[in-house]
Amino acid sequence: VKVENGIRQLQALADSERAAGRRIALVPTMGALHAGHLSLVSEASKRADRVWVSIFVNPCQFEQRADFEGYPRELERDLEACRRAAVDVVFAPRADEFYPPGFQTWVELEALTQPLCGASRPGHFRGVTTVVTKLLLAAKPDLAVFGEKDFQQLAVIRRLVRDLGFDTEVLGVPILREPDGLALSSRNVHLGPRARQQALALVRTLDKVEQAVGEGERSRDRLLALVSRQLGRIERGEVDYAELRDPETLELAPPRLGGPTLLALAVRFLRDADGRGAEVRLIDNRVLLAGRTPEACA
Ligand code: PAF
Repeated sequence: VKVENGIRQLQALADSERAAGRRIALVPTMGALHAGHLSLVSEASKRADRVWVSIFVNPCQFEQRADFEGYPRELERDLEACRRAAVDVVFAPRADEFYPPGFQTWVELEALTQPLCGASRPGHFRGVTTVVTKLLLAAKPDLAVFGEKDFQQLAVIRRLVRDLGFDTEVLGVPILREPDGLALSSRNVHLGPRARQQALALVRTLDKVEQAVGEGERSRDRLLALVSRQLGRIERGEVDYAELRDPETLELAPPRLGGPTLLALAVRFLRDADGRGAEVRLIDNRVLLAGRTPEACA
């Protein structure tokens, strides 16, 4: 695996790959690679001639300094994982080149970044959209691959690419889960043993609601009441949000679901009562009625 740190060098490499007719897929990450990231790499390699992974813990998307500083940094381990996954290039930009002194140019989206994680993490999406824009400008990829676990991030990036006219296709890859259903996340390692058990409430809630929809329930309020009952079982945690929204516009779902609807959950799990683990905010989601064309609402 070739490691590249400089923006200009990466752009030159992108130009020569493109001139040779080779398709580049970029998988943007913040490192601490796990099987979920590797599933993005594997999807990327099916669709491109070259797979590039960026590893950059982006300071601008963390609301709290401590969260940024505590974010796992395991470059050597990540490089080894990339080597095994036959990644061609790892782009690990230098923070001082990526955000040069005096930096003041931001990319910001309007409506899509307001609800859900945008409401509970002010400034987060401005950091994400700015860094993703910079990564796309540096790597000039034909394809950029993101996980569907960060569903709102994916919707925001699709809009950004359309709005700014990037010559890049965006691919979303389904959530990878542990055998017991917990969505893979770099943050899972911080859960105490009890919180790890409690975190299954997320996937169980998605399953229950999907089952209710499968049995014909279409009332938004009754589905949200079911969500509250399920999440109410969490002993040591706070629900950040639990909402039904349009998967594309992220507008609130109508009172009666008529087509594909996103159920998005975010829960802050507290450390275990015996002090083990740390506070961890987890998100999960599912698109209900996927593949259904929206019906007129009664
Ligand atoms: O999903 C992530 O890991 C990050 O938000 C991203 C897209 C790499 C931007 O820093």
